[in-house]
Amino acid sequence: MKITFTDASKSEIVGFMVEEGGKLPAAAEALDEATGGLLSEAANSGRFGGKTGQQAFVVLPKGSDAKRAALIGIGKAKGRDERAWERIGASTYKAHANSGFKSLDLIIDDAADAARAALGAKLAAYRFDTYRTKLKTEDKPSLNALNLVSSDSKAAKAAFKPLDAGADGTYLARDLVNLPPNDLYPASYAARIEELAEHGLEIEILGEKDLAKLGMNSMLGVGQGSVKDSKLGIMRWNGGKEGDAPVALVGKGVCFDTGGISLKPGAGMEDMRGDMGGSAAVVGAMLALAKRKAKANVVGLVGLVENMPDGDAIRPGDILKSASGQTIEVQNTDAEGRLVLCDVLWYAQEHYKPAAIVDLATLTGAIVIGLGHHHAGLFTNNDKLSDQLTKAGMAEGERVWRLPLGPEYDKQLKSKFADMRNIGGRAAGSITAAQFLQRFINKGQTWAHIDIAGVAWVEGEKAPTDPSWASGFGPRLLDRWIAENYES
Ligand code: BES
Ligand code: MN
Ligand code: ZN
Repeated sequence: MKITFTDASKSEIVGFMVEEGGKLPAAAEALDEATGGLLSEAANSGRFGGKTGQQAFVVLPKGSDAKRAALIGIGKAKGRDERAWERIGASTYKAHANSGFKSLDLIIDDAADAARAALGAKLAAYRFDTYRTKLKTEDKPSLNALNLVSSDSKAAKAAFKPLDAGADGTYLARDLVNLPPNDLYPASYAARIEELAEHGLEIEILGEKDLAKLGMNSMLGVGQGSVKDSKLGIMRWNGGKEGDAPVALVGKGVCFDTGGISLKPGAGMEDMRGDMGGSAAVVGAMLALAKRKAKANVVGLVGLVENMPDGDAIRPGDILKSASGQTIEVQNTDAEGRLVLCDVLWYAQEHYKPAAIVDLATLTGAIVIGLGHHHAGLFTNNDKLSDQLTKAGMAEGERVWRLPLGPEYDKQLKSKFADMRNIGGRAAGSITAAQFLQRFINKGQTWAHIDIAGVAWVEGEKAPTDPSWASGFGPRLLDRWIAENYES
């Protein structure tokens, strides 16, 4: 969808914002008069009262500049924050997407509000139709142009620019999660990452030989049963001061998770195409940072593997030596995400000495039981980082909720044979997974782990800003967190 900013109306449908109470905005007065009061009549008929989510439509008389007017309820001023404007943009887009009309104006005078509404509409307009060959024209959206009308359209356009970069990150993350595992596997994924070099990111891809040299046997173990070679994807954005320690973003990129020899049940296994959602969040965030030319040093690292059962796959009982030197008894090959992350975290920490590390992963089913689909689980060794991520997530509608860490939980990882085992028993499954990761984080290293298993994809009815199976959770949270805390 093409998004533009002007100071005058120009589209087939012109949308006016009407506050609760139903009073027409000043911007609608001229058209109301010219049409003999059609707009005020619509504003005062039926159930329309300017409440959020309500809309009234007006067919404009022949000779008018536009074909339709829409009165869009925006509720009360109190509590109408950035998120509310996103929802207004998104639900208005949705209401007109299949109307048969191509262009829509939204008349929103405040530059920041207009930019947020544009973001909402863009998020709502995402589609994943790559694999459909039989889509009829009437099943495709007709609306392909959105124009924001405000007196200072330059300011609105400027305010939208960084938000647009965030939305591009979300789009990319959604695409990656939606893609089927026969087309998105470590090598093809790495090739997509390499394409990001055109945005100024420095890309490095390590293959199995490199990973073996680095001693990353835990991650390699997970990919061992797959005919697809494992890869470590590294993306660097150097927008900050030279020499400033970077922020490291680490993502779980299990392109498909069968469970391995500890095979998952068949029903619903196709969802495990999305088990690379953590890595998608990181890749999307790196794109957003590059597109808005963030003034920060950031490195993104994604461990790309496929977890398959095979004659050569790792077994329950195998003991792996991780890059950190610590040994791991594999008791369940389906607890593979942590086996990947522990080596990537170690590499990130040793190689980059980061100011902070945040990892994201669809790590545990237990987090879906605990928090459902509306918050990701946050685990961190740093209260300040906890506050920063919580605040950024609230503001972008990618919410995180902190859960505890502690030595009592860590004990559940004891192994009879090795330094640790890769599962912690039934109790507190998401916490023991986080404890496992923490064993690879040095004392004093600021670190957070975000378990996104419940939010990376959601089936069924959702917010209009979240139209596809894959939510694209992560890029905007990470981008905002960096903007608020690592850029002056
Ligand atoms: N990828 C799964 C976690 C998952 C489950 C993500 C549901 C999204 C939706 C992960 O690799 C896994 O299988 N975890 C196991 C861990 C267990 C064996 C300790 C789980 O949660 O059952
Ligand atoms: Mn698994
Ligand atoms: Zn997994």
